[in-house]
Amino acid sequence: RRGPDLFPDRGNAAGWDITHRPTLAALDAARAPFRRHAWTPASSGQKYADATAATGAPLEVVNPADPDDRVGTVATASKEGAARAHAAARPWSAPAAERAAALRRAAAAYEAHAPELFAILHREAGKSLLDAIGEVREAVDFLHYYAANATDAPGTRGTWVCVSPWNFPLAIFTGQLTAALAMGNAVLAKPAEQTPLIAARAVELLHEAGVPAEALQLVPGDGATGAALIADARTRGVAFTGSTDTALKIRASMAKHCAPGTPLIAETGGLNAMIVDSTALPEHAVRDILASAFQSAGQRCSALRCLYVQEDIAERLTTMLTGAMDTLTLGDPWDIATDVGPVIDTEARDGIEAYVEAARAEGRVLHEIAAPGRGTFIAPVLIRVRGIEDLPFEVFGPVLHLATFAADEVGEVIERINARGYGLTFGLHTRIDDRVQEVVERIAVGNAYVNRNQIGAIVGSQPFGGEGLSGTGPKAGGPDYLPRFAPAPAPAGGG
Ligand code: NAD
Ligand code: ALA
Repeated sequence: RRGPDLFPDRGNAAGWDITHRPTLAALDAARAPFRRHAWTPASSGQKYADATAATGAPLEVVNPADPDDRVGTVATASKEGAARAHAAARPWSAPAAERAAALRRAAAAYEAHAPELFAILHREAGKSLLDAIGEVREAVDFLHYYAANATDAPGTRGTWVCVSPWNFPLAIFTGQLTAALAMGNAVLAKPAEQTPLIAARAVELLHEAGVPAEALQLVPGDGATGAALIADARTRGVAFTGSTDTALKIRASMAKHCAPGTPLIAETGGLNAMIVDSTALPEHAVRDILASAFQSAGQRCSALRCLYVQEDIAERLTTMLTGAMDTLTLGDPWDIATDVGPVIDTEARDGIEAYVEAARAEGRVLHEIAAPGRGTFIAPVLIRVRGIEDLPFEVFGPVLHLATFAADEVGEVIERINARGYGLTFGLHTRIDDRVQEVVERIAVGNAYVNRNQIGAIVGSQPFGGEGLSGTGPKAGGPDYLPRFAPAPAPAGGG
C-alpha cells in the first residue's frame, strides 16, 4: 500500500554515480580533508551537554579496518544523564508544516555534507563507498518521506526513546527520530556505542536545520544508557532496532517501568533464506547471492544466511559461486576498489571466527577467501549445512550457509524456514510463475524478493520490516509507520 502523498514533487534521493569519472573525482577531493580528521563533538558546541554533563566513560572510536586510526571521541551519558535528558525534553510544538520544512532542510544539509558523512561511515562503521552512498540516500529519503506525511493530529505529544544499531548508524538512526519528530514528539536518540560520531554529526545538522535542541537530544552511551532512558515513567514510546535478545529485554523493562500501552516498535534480527531452483538463470542468481550474503560484509539484518539450491544444479551453481567469491576485494572501505570491508569490532570478529573455526573442524567449510592481516576482517566463507535448522543463531557477518533440496521438496523447505520463527527477508530465484505465487503466499516474512537480491529496501516503494522474532512492525519507510508515532489521545471525560 502506498501513501497518497508519497514524495510529492520529488523521487528518492539521486545519490552519486561513481561510474561517472568526474563525479568520482569531485567526491574524492571532497572526502580528502576527512581522511585523518578526528571528530570530538562534545567540544564543538554539541547541544547534548545536559545529558553528558553527568558523564559516563568517553567513547573512543577506532577504525575497524585500521587499529592505528583514531576517528574521534564522544562524551557519554550516565544513568543520571539519561534522567536529565528526560527532564530537558520538550515536544516539538511547531505546526506540522514548519516541522516538515526543518526536516527537509536537514535532508539538504545531509546531501551537502555527504562527503564528510561518507568519511565517518568509512572510518567509524567500516562502510564501503557503495554502502556509504546507499546509507546517506536512505537517510535523506526518510527525512523527505516522513516530512511529507507529517500531520497535526490532536492529542498529547511526548518523549520517544529511539535506540539504534551500528550497522545502519545514519539511515536507521535518522529514520526513527525523524518519524517521532514529524509527529511533534520529543526524541532522546541513543546511537550504538560503536557508532556515536556519525550520529553526533547528524544531530548537529538537524539542529542547524531548525530542529529545537530540547526536541532532539543525542544521548550517547552503551546498552545501560539505553536501558536507563527507557526505564523511565516519562517515556511515551520506544523505537528500537537491534538484536532480538535486546528487544525482549526492552519489552520486559517497559512492562515494569512505563505506562500501560506505551508503544514499542522493535525491528530485530533474521535468519534469512533464499531458494534457487533448477529453472533459475545461474549467472543472475550468483550475482544476487553475492550481494545478498557478502555486501556490507554480511552485516545487514536483511542479509542472506541460508541458501537452498536444487540438487540438480548444485554442483554447477556452487562452482560459479565460489569463483565469484574469489573476485571479491577485501580492504580499506575508503578505497573505491573495496567490495567487502571489516566487521564492526574485535568482539564481532572473534565470535564469527570461532563459529567458522568450529565448522572448519567439522569439515563443513566449502570455500573461503583470504582476509587482510590487519583490522577486523572476516573473509567471505561458504559453509555446508543440511538446512536452516543447523544455523544456531544469526551469524552477523560474511558467512553463507549452503543446503540442497530435491525437486519435490520446495514445500518442506518453506515449512522449515517458517519453523525457525524469524520472518525478515526471503529470496527466490525461479522462472516458474506458479511457483512464485505459491512460495510468496506461504513464506512468512516481511520482505520477499523474486529474481533479485534481498537487500537494500527502498523507502517509499519497499517498506521494510519483519514479523515473528524479526519485529513488531509497522514497516519503516511505509505508510503505516508514521501513525504509530501519533500523539496519545487526550484523556476522556471533563466535558
Ligand atoms: P544490539 O541489540 O546489541 O544493540 C542495538 C542497540 O541497543 C544499541 O544502541 C545498544 O547500545 C542498545 N542496547 C543494548 N542493550 C540494551 C538494553 N538492555 N536496553 C536498551 N538498549 C540497549 O544490536 P546491534 O549488535 O547493534 O545490531 C545488530 C542487530 O540488529 C542484528 O541482530 C540485526 O539483525 C539487527 N538489525 C535489525 C534491523 C531491522 O530493521 N530489522 C536493522 C538493522 C539491524
Ligand atoms: N533496509 C535494509 C535493507 O533492506 C536493512 O537491507
